[in-house]
Amino acid sequence: KKVVLAYSGGLDTSIILKWLQTEFGAEVVTFTADLGQGEELEPARAKALAAGVKPENIFIEDVREEFVRDFVFPMFRANAVYEGVYLLGTSIARPLISKRQIEIADMVGADAVCHGATGKGNDQVRFELGYYGLNPDIKVIAPWRDWSFKSRTDLLAFAEQHGIEITKDKRGEAPFSVDANLLHSSSEGKVLEDPAEPAPEFVHMRTISPEDAPDEPETITIGFERGDAIAINGEEMSPATLLTALNAYGKKHGIGRLDLLENRFVGMKSRGIYETPGGTILLTAHRGIEQATLDKGAAHLKDELMPRYAELIYNGFWWSPEREMLQAAIDHSQRWVTGEVTLKLYKGQAYLTGRSSPYSLYREDIVTFEDDHGAYDQKDAEGFIKLNALRLRLLAGRDRKFGKN
Ligand code: ARG
Ligand code: SIN
Repeated sequence: KKVVLAYSGGLDTSIILKWLQTEFGAEVVTFTADLGQGEELEPARAKALAAGVKPENIFIEDVREEFVRDFVFPMFRANAVYEGVYLLGTSIARPLISKRQIEIADMVGADAVCHGATGKGNDQVRFELGYYGLNPDIKVIAPWRDWSFKSRTDLLAFAEQHGIEITKDKRGEAPFSVDANLLHSSSEGKVLEDPAEPAPEFVHMRTISPEDAPDEPETITIGFERGDAIAINGEEMSPATLLTALNAYGKKHGIGRLDLLENRFVGMKSRGIYETPGGTILLTAHRGIEQATLDKGAAHLKDELMPRYAELIYNGFWWSPEREMLQAAIDHSQRWVTGEVTLKLYKGQAYLTGRSSPYSLYREDIVTFEDDHGAYDQKDAEGFIKLNALRLRLLAGRDRKFGKN
């Protein structure tokens, strides 16, 4: 039995690795991705080797550019937010991990894949819908749902017994659970479980608090081409480089913090603390360039489709025909979404202060309150309003005759 494990190198997936080998009798292949979580990956190799994984079965890959280019940017073309505020930082990384695990399984001839998500959350669904959506015959192992450990103490005893290194904070229970990548960090559980209580400041790891942000605002411009950000202050950058740079701006100005009590796909509510510094700036900027370049009908339809699209991503249906159909419509809308946006970054906020585009639909000669030299005939508005008012007048006539019913 050969299993491709999504391996972070942390305690939980190290225990899973051992468990797969000892209790499951599997030959384990590890996949560790650099998604921009800001952790060294080489320790994961050393740990896998120490656990007896063959060198040729260790896959460590920098997927940051692919992550931003093929997952984050397409999602931002839709301005996707779940339940009004969550920028889907964890949700959007899962389809990429699933895809690479399935590709690696094909390469090494593995018939199973394995992840470290619990049986209570969204991530198990996202990983597994990804697996099945890319390989109908794949076997899925979800240790958290399968193993017989009843408590954290059992788990730690197993780790100890197999010589798995347990760092100090892990022994005393990690204070909360973290998932991080180039787009965001999320923190859930433990000290955060009472949603009435504010999150302690130490939970935040990639933004300074807005109170401590500089007293001077900072102005930046972001260049867009066909809906994707391509430059900051005139300097062109690759997708991952650009998001990294925006994260630095967001961090400095305390932008992109969120405290959310959300509805998980599995039915329960959970409280999360999110930090999406660059993504928050990017969302504001993208909406800004769309203000100038999108037609009203296209823009409003996009806004109607967005919650559906966001929910598909949240629920793990990235590799589904309906997500691809929506993506095609969204991408089509972005053909002219090219130009520049100016933002002021100040104490936790990204303020949009300007937008310009060679393809802008904004016409100053039409909108001006000064002499428009015949660009717009105000008399046209009279008939426009009268016909729109016709129904309302018929109704008002009835109401006045019979009273409101
Ligand atoms: N609640 C967020 C989501 O479902 C974050 C999940 C965090 N996952 C984790 N393994 N810590 O997208
Ligand atoms: C987990 O259950 O592993 C993390 C939380 C989630 O997936 O929603």
